[in-house]
Amino acid sequence: ARLVVLVSGAGTNLQALIDATADPAYGARVVAVGADRDDIVGLARAERAGIPTFVKKVGQFSSRDHWDRAMAETVAGFEPDLVVSAGFMKLAGESFLERFGGRFVNTHPALLPSFPGMHGAADALAYGVKVTGATLFIVDAGVDTGPIVDQVVVPVEAEDSVETLHERIKAAERQMLVDCVGRMAREGWTVTGRTVQFGRRPA
Ligand code: GRF
Repeated sequence: ARLVVLVSGAGTNLQALIDATADPAYGARVVAVGADRDDIVGLARAERAGIPTFVKKVGQFSSRDHWDRAMAETVAGFEPDLVVSAGFMKLAGESFLERFGGRFVNTHPALLPSFPGMHGAADALAYGVKVTGATLFIVDAGVDTGPIVDQVVVPVEAEDSVETLHERIKAAERQMLVDCVGRMAREGWTVTGRTVQFGRRPA
């Protein structure tokens, strides 16, 4: 399966996917990495691995909608089977979802529907929950509202700062992402309402 991965930062999730795809049995390879900003470690990781990259900044376009359409066009050019948002800090718009709806996944550092939005780890810590985690979901038009592919639970420790908690979440998140994307690539997946299952729908 062909993966296009979108990043905005450190790209440790991207790196985990790149490392996993070194094994042909994994069943997927990263054919391109896109970003909404330059000078990020995520892009450097792609370049080091010899993977084509592209950058589209919202500010380069006359509207958010034009940006969204340009993203959709460029991603489509790489003919992905699955698009993975891995720490990509922009919401996809209508054109992007029209094109990739159902095959666009995002990873979030909290147990959705708890703590959606930009600060999943910080919000969980501030709330005082004893467990949190990470969620992989199929992106829909809402903010972190799409059908859930998988979740992993991570404990909150008494001494945690946002950083230590987020690092613990990210370790679990990477493992979940690699496991699920591999299964999606090898087995396919089926979305029925809010239920996501691995495996193709019987004909
Ligand atoms: C991940 O925790 C992701 O869920 C969140 O930002 C982090 C990105 O990490 N939105 P990285 O860029 O993959 O290292």
